[in-house]
Amino acid sequence: MNKSQSLSVFVMAIISLTSAATLYAETEETIEPLVLQGVMQQLGRDMQAVTGAIATEDWSTVAELSPQIARHAQPPMMEKLRILSWLGSDAGKFREFDGEVHDAATAMEEAAMRGEGQAVVKAFSEVQLSCLGCHQNFREPFTKHFYERR
Ligand code: HEC
Repeated sequence: MNKSQSLSVFVMAIISLTSAATLYAETEETIEPLVLQGVMQQLGRDMQAVTGAIATEDWSTVAELSPQIARHAQPPMMEKLRILSWLGSDAGKFREFDGEVHDAATAMEEAAMRGEGQAVVKAFSEVQLSCLGCHQNFREPFTKHFYERR
């Protein structure tokens, strides 16, 4: 091996070591949860609180909680764009589930304001079905895409 050949072997070795280190650092790096995850956790807590209020027929509490579910917080614009671009042609379907949550939670609020227990429970189950519908269609591929390194 002449001088320039051994230099290039040395350079190649450094490059491969550096890229191995970078790869390792990337796998170790924790992936930040999306803002949407926090929004979802809040929805989960609000739905639990509604369940508790229904159990005691506390319709005024149901009426207070329902708008928080219907008009839940939204992720910042940049994150929305990321999600929409991942959804592609499924964006309409995703939005539809969110619209169903909005409508059912609004119906739940109105029923609670009228003190109509049966209608509250019916609307509650519709809210829950909309949560479930979106989760069954999107949650797994969503978390795969946004949280798993490929
Ligand atoms: C339009 C789609 C959609 C609707 C509607 C929806 N979710 Fe979710 N939900 C998601 C996605 C996507 C995730 C995964 C988010 C993540 O992990 O970043 C998720 C995750 C969650 C989680 C788990 C959060 C965690 O810590 O991992 C909870 C709890 C949750 N949703 C509750 C609800 C409740 C309650 C409703 C109905 C009131 C609801 N969701 C409606 C899409 C939806």
